[in-house]
Amino acid sequence: MRRITMTLAAGAAAAALAVALPASARWHTGDPQDQSLRALAADHGLYVGTAIDVGALSDPTYSQIAASQFSTVTAENAMKWETIEPERGVYNWAPAEQFMAFAKAHDQKVRGHVLVWQNQLPAWLTEGVADGSISKAELRGILHDYITAVVTHFQGRIWQWDVVNEAVTDPWDSPDGHITYKGFWYENLGAGYIADAFRWARAADRQALLTYNDYNIDAFGDGGPLDKTQFVYDMVKDLRAQGVPIDVVGSQAHLSTRYGNYSPFQIADAQQKFASLGVATALTEVDVRNLMPAEQTGDTMNPLLQAQAYDYSALMQGCLASRHCISYTVWGFDDGHSWTNTWDFGAGAGAEAMATLYTADYQPKLAYRAIQADLAFTGAPQVLSRIPQHPTR
Ligand code: XIL
Repeated sequence: MRRITMTLAAGAAAAALAVALPASARWHTGDPQDQSLRALAADHGLYVGTAIDVGALSDPTYSQIAASQFSTVTAENAMKWETIEPERGVYNWAPAEQFMAFAKAHDQKVRGHVLVWQNQLPAWLTEGVADGSISKAELRGILHDYITAVVTHFQGRIWQWDVVNEAVTDPWDSPDGHITYKGFWYENLGAGYIADAFRWARAADRQALLTYNDYNIDAFGDGGPLDKTQFVYDMVKDLRAQGVPIDVVGSQAHLSTRYGNYSPFQIADAQQKFASLGVATALTEVDVRNLMPAEQTGDTMNPLLQAQAYDYSALMQGCLASRHCISYTVWGFDDGHSWTNTWDFGAGAGAEAMATLYTADYQPKLAYRAIQADLAFTGAPQVLSRIPQHPTR
């Protein structure tokens, strides 16, 4: 009898404690294996996210995992220009609104993706510029009006906006490998469009965190003219010095087990160096591809699954190491809904895939357990809770 009373009393005390403590210090009971990524990440003040394929939300298992495991979401395609304004002046908000409703229903913060990018632009825009019917002066006005319309439409509902995406080259884009600006907007408007875009976005939303987002900026190289991470670092430093309202550097982190191998320290170093500029950081599109083996046996699959788990974990540890790394978003959470199934990364369409945390039949992979353990078993002195980020004016 006495024993039961004590148990009840302890339970009541725990309940009172759970209410009194801030969310970042929530007291979890039970085995961390049974806790969601979003609950474990909340203890660090970190948001864990996924890209959402709006068409897949009708699959109840997909929706259930998306809702329960993640505290931030990004529309995989529904907020891209070709979807939002398929014909000039005709806005199609429906897919984005379906996505926003899902996020709201599950208390998820939204990363808006993407305002300015050279891909997935509507044909009326690219063809109009190509045939001269849209002049360069007019193009600048079109970009201004588009950013203003979209940011205003979603105003107050977006946590982080990807304002400019993938604006700089990779070493293999030029004969001598030096890094520079690239793409449709740079070619037509010059590099000044980047500062303009951030200022226009800020004018339409005073609260959203404004992000520069790119791939292959997960770690610094030698700091020279071939180092893309260094180029982006210098660019962000210049923009900030000019008073451009850029709040976050997003590292997409599309990795493959066939390349490199970052240690968690290299990732942490990059996160901390960007933070030293006064910006927050985010991992925005994490996935880790594998070259598909000819046959999927234990012998061929085990090393791949382990290498993949290591990369997911190195990224998670690198993020946790910086108090300014505010979110870790995966680019799709299951192998059944991953862009890697059809994209050609150089080895042929779909030849490099199996890139996500869950199998196609929604079983968690070793990579899932690795980042779950990172979230559960890290803390002081090296891992401290996130520092809240406020938008710069
Ligand atoms: C990808 C989507 O996942 C695909 O469905 C689409 O066909 C192409 O774009 N960098 C980005 C994302 O910023 O928007 C891209 O998403 C992946 C690379």
